[in-house]
Amino acid sequence: MKEVQDFYFKKAKKEGYPARSVYKLEEAQQKYRLLKKGDKVLDLGCHPGSWSLYAAKVVGGQGLVVGIDLQKTSGGGKKDMAPIHWLHGDITDAEMLASVRGVAPAFDVVISDMAPSTSGNKWADQQQALALARRSLAVATEMLKRGGNYYCKVFQGEDVDAFFKEVRALFVSARLVKPKSSRSESREMFVLGMGFGG
Ligand SMILES: C[S@@+](CC[C@H](N)C(=O)[O-])C[C@H]1O[C@@H](n2cnc3c(N)ncnc32)[C@H](O)[C@@H]1O
Repeated sequence: MKEVQDFYFKKAKKEGYPARSVYKLEEAQQKYRLLKKGDKVLDLGCHPGSWSLYAAKVVGGQGLVVGIDLQKTSGGGKKDMAPIHWLHGDITDAEMLASVRGVAPAFDVVISDMAPSTSGNKWADQQQALALARRSLAVATEMLKRGGNYYCKVFQGEDVDAFFKEVRALFVSARLVKPKSSRSESREMFVLGMGFGG
């Protein structure tokens, strides 16, 4: 398994991404085409910036990316890439949505790779991760255009089924995705909702 992780780490470095997590989005994009040229993308938990940089390349110069994180993030600004607005803050703060709306009133895609800092208490960490996933879904519900797409990290656990059902009720299609670049021993998975019902 270590070789697989080293492979993605080296690949990310070579391709100019700050984290190998980029391939968890790239794999979904190659299979399901959730991002399209010209899209406006909202990236929750964007630091150190790989997903935003990748999305900015896919949507191209006519698109837009807004990345939010508790940590300050920078990068992008290259030719043929969408402009990236990096916002520094906590997405659970109500005022944060006003800052997002200040950049764009609505988005075609909301992606979330948010993860809490782990406490060592498995149950508490699972609850915290699920709370972030729920927050990202609430944000998606507020900010997505009709027909928009949603891609969000979750950790397998008893409450994930209920969360998945909520996504299924809001989108035309919903599926659970486990990218090859995500460690097989990790409980991390991604929920993909396509075609927001509005
Ligand atoms: C796995 S990292 C994201 C990696 C990123 N997708 C990339 O490819 O570079 C998870 C991020 O979620 C952020 N995060 C956790 N809780 C957050 C919150 N309430 N608001 C904003 N960001 C949060 C963390 O600060 C961390 O940087």
